[in-house]
Amino acid sequence: MRVMITEQEIRERVRELGEKISTEYSDRPLTILGVLTGSVVLLADLIRATSVPLRVALIQASSYGGTRTSPTALSVNSSLVPDLTGRDVLILDDIFDTGKTMVGLLESLKAFHPRCVRTAVLLWKTDRTCVHLEPDYFCFKIPDEFVVGYGLDYNDEFRHLPYIGVPDESDLVKAGGHA
Ligand code: IMP
Ligand code: MG
Repeated sequence: MRVMITEQEIRERVRELGEKISTEYSDRPLTILGVLTGSVVLLADLIRATSVPLRVALIQASSYGGTRTSPTALSVNSSLVPDLTGRDVLILDDIFDTGKTMVGLLESLKAFHPRCVRTAVLLWKTDRTCVHLEPDYFCFKIPDEFVVGYGLDYNDEFRHLPYIGVPDESDLVKAGGHA
């Protein structure tokens, strides 16, 4: 496993993001909406880096039917989403890759009548993005490499790693998959 972004670098950028959110949402009714499962580590750290009143909610998005990096269909489960009427929502995900997940989530949230929706991610794979949307907040732009850790998985493994790493072939085999 090659370390791409260290635990210390993540901590620093998440702290900065928390400060930015605290400034921009100081007088707004904020709900941070974490996208399961990849955002859980970032969600836990980010909310403790903020100093404004906020609510936490969860939504589930899964891409399936394709290969590791080219999923074909998106399924959104919004059954856990609370009332968001009139609230300012910040969707929080682990990574903005093609961007299709975020576009699908924005569409799904319309039914909840929030006042305003913005998006935040830990990682943005800029070379892969293929939608007319950019994340409002991001911590790191990264090249087109498959990464795991800090919530991101391969075959549901590696989410617990405190850093962002690039798995090698043997890591992937150990995780029960294939490159
Ligand atoms: P999208 O392409 O922006 O819709 O991202 C789809 C989903 O693919 C993300 O929410 C992640 O769960 C997953 N994904 C994309 N790139 C990576 C990666 O490098 N490592 C792990 N998961 C990834
Ligand atoms: Mg995900």
